[in-house]
Amino acid sequence: MRLLLSLCCVSDNTHSDNQDKEFTRKVNGTKTQTTTKASIPKAEPYTPERALNLFKKYADQADPDTIGPGGLEALCGDAEIPMEGVLPLLLAWQLNAKDLGTFTKDEWMKGTGNLRTASPQVLRLALSDLEDLLILDKPPLKPSKNELYNRTAYWAYARDTKHSFHEFYAFCFNLAKAEQSRNIDMEVVTALWSVILPPKFPIMNEIIAFINENGTYKAANKDLWIMMLEFCESVKPTLEGYEESGDAWPTLLDDFVEWKRSQGSASSS
Ligand SMILES: *[C@@H]1O[C@H](CO)[C@@H](O)[C@H](O)[C@H]1NC(C)=O
Ligand SMILES: *[C@@H]1O[C@H](CO)[C@@H](O)[C@H](O)[C@H]1NC(C)=O
Ligand SMILES: *[C@@H]1O[C@H](CO)[C@@H](O)[C@H](O)[C@H]1NC(C)=O
Repeated sequence: MRLLLSLCCVSDNTHSDNQDKEFTRKVNGTKTQTTTKASIPKAEPYTPERALNLFKKYADQADPDTIGPGGLEALCGDAEIPMEGVLPLLLAWQLNAKDLGTFTKDEWMKGTGNLRTASPQVLRLALSDLEDLLILDKPPLKPSKNELYNRTAYWAYARDTKHSFHEFYAFCFNLAKAEQSRNIDMEVVTALWSVILPPKFPIMNEIIAFINENGTYKAANKDLWIMMLEFCESVKPTLEGYEESGDAWPTLLDDFVEWKRSQGSASSS
């Protein structure tokens, strides 16, 4: 559980509104590193062998066909990928991982093969590009002659960013859900929501505050997961759109609206 949370902890408010070329990232909670695209080592061209060597570097000693949470943390450290932000989730999505915090050799080889990179820095670039496009709603990049990785998937996402975001969002539920379970613990769910949704939907911050304050919600099922995104998309922070939508919202969201209204009337009286 702790490991899960360390993968997707509280929102990374340190995100800097940086250019495509420049990254300032809080690494390991303390030190801040700045890298530029130019400083990405003239990445050796992708070969499956290089990808495999990189995999071995981070693979679990006890289970050499898997990168476990410890290996992932080391990889994120080397690649300057903040563990507490959305990038590790985007990585899991790109590698089509089955479980949060682990990559099998097969997932790794296929995923890095599609991206055509065996460089942690280029991997980070690919993930930052996706974050900009799908989470932060920045305009798509312009195609360039010498791409550092295979951007085929990126261009496909860019053609319909809303659809692609939905795909990513749905992926995350299955990623975080234990195979035999129908629900995800609320603690994990709110950690996921806090990195995926607030940049697009500021109302999500209030919903998380409500969930934490209420303290009685223990888990989220798929219906709540899906409806949360729909709620964010159709209900404004003023709650405009809530009644109009005609949807039967999950109880948690009805409770939230009631809570928010009572807060509003409490502060205005
Ligand atoms: C950062 O990482 C270094 C080594 O990787 C470790 O010794 C240190 O305790 C870490 N700092 C924090 C705040 O996690
Ligand atoms: C580039 O990525 C696309 C989409 O993931 C994939 O279908 C294609 O095979 C990749 N190209 C190469 C050369 O690997
Ligand atoms: C907290 O959640 C319960 C349901 O779990 C609900 O009945 C109650 O109204 C909520 N409290 C507040 C302050 O919204």
